[in-house]
Amino acid sequence: MYNVRMIGEDTWWLGASDRRIQLFENTYPVPNGMSYNNYLIMDEKTCLLDGVDESVSRQFEENLAHVLDGRPLDYLVIDHMEPDHCAVIPDLVRRWPNLKLVGTPKAFDLVRQFHGFDPTPHAIKVKEGDTLSLGRHTLQFVLAPMVHWPEVMVSYDQLTGTLFSADAFGAFGATGGAIFADEVDWERDWADEARRYYTNIVGKYGMQVTSLLKKASKLDIKEIAPLHAHIWRRDFDQILSRYQKWAAYEPEDKSVAIFYGSIYGGTANAADILSTKLAEAGVHDVRVYDVSKTPVSEMLSQSFRSPVLVFASATYNMGIFDGMRELLEDLNAHAMKNRTVGVIYNGSWAPQAGSLMLDAIQRMKGMEVLDAEVHVTSAVDEGALEQIDALSAAIVAKLAE
Ligand code: FEO
Repeated sequence: MYNVRMIGEDTWWLGASDRRIQLFENTYPVPNGMSYNNYLIMDEKTCLLDGVDESVSRQFEENLAHVLDGRPLDYLVIDHMEPDHCAVIPDLVRRWPNLKLVGTPKAFDLVRQFHGFDPTPHAIKVKEGDTLSLGRHTLQFVLAPMVHWPEVMVSYDQLTGTLFSADAFGAFGATGGAIFADEVDWERDWADEARRYYTNIVGKYGMQVTSLLKKASKLDIKEIAPLHAHIWRRDFDQILSRYQKWAAYEPEDKSVAIFYGSIYGGTANAADILSTKLAEAGVHDVRVYDVSKTPVSEMLSQSFRSPVLVFASATYNMGIFDGMRELLEDLNAHAMKNRTVGVIYNGSWAPQAGSLMLDAIQRMKGMEVLDAEVHVTSAVDEGALEQIDALSAAIVAKLAE
């Protein structure tokens, strides 16, 4: 049975959620599932904005058939050609042979690559600022390459002021019937997953996100309709201000994130002692993560949030302990920068983890490594305790700047 909502004049949400999915993109844990939004404008012409993932295609078909109510589909705007939004393209083209596909030239390359057919007879290729009239509604296209793939554009409905924003402003997690951000406690329940989604999916393309934000600021936006999670129709600053910070790699608050990789507990002990000393000094927003069991996507997200990152690792096979090595590689891959860093390393006979972590950290731009390093030899002793004291004091001083 269909399950749709109207989100504005002539405009319908046809989305659905997959609560069985374990890993989005077969990479990111999504314990709360994943939502896939798309939209249909019923004007003189009918126009679908993006499709959905294969996992929810049956619900999508029922939704589409219900709202079309016997009318043909005239246009499919391909804002983003990733399969989580475009798995249904071949079916749509088969069903409506006169369907016009609207997208960037690169989107059509990807249609050919992913779906193995030549989209040329259906293709309307658009560039920055082009428009498409549907009758009363006119869509204006704004290119957004690398937010998240190179073919991405966003579509602005000049009649309703709706910005169909592709992946931008989405979040991990399945939605219920409350598809508007103002219908949920977004700050409490969704902000963390929006950050984890942004940082992992488009985090390394801050410049391109900034460029999109600049272009979007010139539009009279009344509603933001992303391809994942909630639709925004008020309090835009709640999400836009976050995107501005994330895109600029600016921390959100005064928190400290401590990541530790520990084999027999000595390094974990050092991390815990540091968190206690920080708390005693008045720094209460300190989050401690065991790299062996925390998803990298969560730690990357926290790294975007916090101004101070502490990496604590045992030496393992003459290198950095596995989970820590993976975290540092991921931070490098996402171009993490401009953070204050503390280093704790442990080595019972050859403490290589310290210098190797520093190498990895120094490959990131703008990282200020605090002089107060902590060297643990197997277990925390009085000497290491003094070093942890010094590191805590250096972090407190830094946060006070
Ligand atoms: Fe939701 Fe980049 O796909």
